[in-house]
Amino acid sequence: MKNKVTKAIFPVAGLGTRFLPATKSIPKEILTLVDKPLIQYAIDEARAAGIREFIFVTSRGKGALEDYFDSAPQLEESLRKKNKKDLLDILRKTTMPSGAIAYIRQRDPLGLGHAVWCARRLIADEPFAVILTDDVIAAEKPCLQQMVEAYEEVGGNMVAAMEVPPEKASAYGLIKAGEEANRIIEVKGMVEKPKLEDAPSNIAVIGRYILTPKILENLDDKAVGAGGEIQLTDAIAREINESDNVTAYRFEGKRFDCGSKSGFLEATVSFALERPDLRDDFLSFLENNIMSPKAAQ
Ligand code: UTP
Repeated sequence: MKNKVTKAIFPVAGLGTRFLPATKSIPKEILTLVDKPLIQYAIDEARAAGIREFIFVTSRGKGALEDYFDSAPQLEESLRKKNKKDLLDILRKTTMPSGAIAYIRQRDPLGLGHAVWCARRLIADEPFAVILTDDVIAAEKPCLQQMVEAYEEVGGNMVAAMEVPPEKASAYGLIKAGEEANRIIEVKGMVEKPKLEDAPSNIAVIGRYILTPKILENLDDKAVGAGGEIQLTDAIAREINESDNVTAYRFEGKRFDCGSKSGFLEATVSFALERPDLRDDFLSFLENNIMSPKAAQ
């Protein structure tokens, strides 16, 4: 019987330079799509997948993230007095039971692999998930839940994967794919941000992982990879050679790259159009001003 996945690591220690000046004082993960911070999308997805322990790898200046998960007695009391049940329900989802959340510091931003390694003592000897809050995935069944179900069949190490335009492939970790069945792809090789001519495919690794604790041991040597950073991809790639237990899961859903400004804007528009309270007004704005601007003149 494979261990259940109940722990997730959220590496949020990056500098978020693509969102300066906002990220000078606000963690990127607090930026909102419509009215919900990126971090809340990630937490909701983790909860749906059965995660019970939430480990944040943070850095200087991320205090707002810790505050976000605290209870807010004054605010709650005020909403209760005004009988604002809907808002109280929304707030309730932002708090965590005592002891469910842990914060670990990554002192220097040495790379995603290093951030995950920082949580090694809290993971100990269990499989664990990693969620990158930059990748927001809209899906009928949340992406990590899809993966947990597939993982229960195959175990080992599993990464989320999707095809990306070949000309953009070198911005990603890419896999060399073997056979595929039921969306589970055998992984024969994996490389982080290769040159376009060295790309093994245009199947990219997206920010959801289910990993064995062996990956954390592989990161012990702190080997520096692409971009001068300690790469999680390299630690997973070692397992392909040593244990042949790496798969990729071709998830169902639409992924938005909210680490980039254009991806963030696309997600904002998409999520706003999904909202019954905003859809009509927002759509008519888009139709009149964007899709047929002449009509508005
Ligand atoms: P990114 O490559 O997007 O870096 O990291 P970043 O710092 O967040 O953003 P930019 O590129 O400067 O705009 C991918 C994920 O890995 C985390 C980030 O917080 C993000 O969730 N990360 C990256 C760390 O936690 N530590 C690191 O040393 C590097």
